[in-house]
Amino acid sequence: MEKLRRIVNQIAYAPKSQALSTLSPLHLSLIPLLFLSSSLYKTLISFRHTLYHFKFLRKHRLPVPVISVGNLTWGGNGKTPMVEFVANWFVNDVGVSPLILTRGYGGADEAKMLQRHFNGTPVKIGVGANRAAIAASFFQRHGFINPLDIACLEVVPKTQVVSDKIGVAILDDGMQHISMARDLEIVMVNALSPWGNQHLLPYGPLREPLTSFNRADAAVIHHADMVPDECLSEMKSKILDVNRNLPIYLSAMTPSHFFKAPNTSCQLHLGVIFEKAVLCVSAIGSPNSFVQKIEKMGPLYVDRLDYSDHHQFQDKDIKMIKARLENLKNKFGSEPTVVVTEKDYDRDSKILGGLDPFEVLVLCCKLQILNHNGCSQDSFKKLLTLSLS
Ligand SMILES: *[C@@H]1O[C@H](CO)[C@@H](O)[C@H](O)[C@H]1NC(C)=O
Ligand SMILES: *[C@@H]1O[C@H](CO)[C@@H](O)[C@H](O)[C@H]1NC(C)=O
Repeated sequence: MEKLRRIVNQIAYAPKSQALSTLSPLHLSLIPLLFLSSSLYKTLISFRHTLYHFKFLRKHRLPVPVISVGNLTWGGNGKTPMVEFVANWFVNDVGVSPLILTRGYGGADEAKMLQRHFNGTPVKIGVGANRAAIAASFFQRHGFINPLDIACLEVVPKTQVVSDKIGVAILDDGMQHISMARDLEIVMVNALSPWGNQHLLPYGPLREPLTSFNRADAAVIHHADMVPDECLSEMKSKILDVNRNLPIYLSAMTPSHFFKAPNTSCQLHLGVIFEKAVLCVSAIGSPNSFVQKIEKMGPLYVDRLDYSDHHQFQDKDIKMIKARLENLKNKFGSEPTVVVTEKDYDRDSKILGGLDPFEVLVLCCKLQILNHNGCSQDSFKKLLTLSLS
């Protein structure tokens, strides 16, 4: 399964200019099948949109404004950090309690991370596939604020207690969840692997054609700090070709601190890995961005083990990680440090915590909107405010 997935991925992300010549006969033999499935998938999606468009299917409307954060492709593109950014802003700046609706995909690692970050705050997290039903149960338990009352809310002073009633819903991975009506559609794009060969699944990485940008209210190019400006310009013009008036924001993950596993309260400064030998272990969509961040912290040496997105760590992986660590120890004569992402740690904290006697540090990051061309964190927040009225 792992192997097939890797092959399909290589086809999807083969550079257009040299696409076919770089692929092996095995890869080539798969293309017709993938292409056919991809076309079938495209037909199904557009049929589904048509049904909603002509009201053969009814959209479900929640009693509060809904902000959707979604993506067009598979793989890590900052959807969950964006959900967190939006939720934090509603609690801290607007003084409204948000309900995050998430499917809990991939062993629920993302949901677990959200739960830990928002523990003890007024942010509510509903996990499950039937998001309408889950939302209903939260509204019943906590009540909700009439949107008209929010529209005239002043920004609350920090000391004021935020009402327990839900004022806004944030749809995690909402782009394809078209059965629910939304007031703001944010589409995340991963700068490190934007749209591969531009084909739909499974031939390409797209879950929807690029024309879906027409449904968006804002596009956010995530990991924008990790690619050259020419790439960003290319992506921007591709998006603007589809939707000329779409505001495009840039975002990046900024490391904030480590915690020392398994103690989530034991927070450490980013400088603790300075001049140390480090092994980066990850199973995320963009392992390069993770490793590059670690490299910037000035370690003596960085080794890495990348697994595919959402990989469940097994005993044999732990054996392999330990073997690598022993190698590093022999090479540098001191104990190497294992660094993992928060997402991976939350999915497999038991097994990743079991690397005794080696120290495991978990890197924590926050999404930041970068300033460019008048699109700033402030203008992004204005856009969020508009969704409330
Ligand atoms: C994009 O969508 C896919 C399919 O739901 C999901 O698996 C993936 O996690 C999403 N990307 C991210 C990191 O948000
Ligand atoms: C976890 O870390 C915190 C902060 O360093 C410390 O006060 C606490 O005692 C630690 N807990 C455990 C179980 O080691």
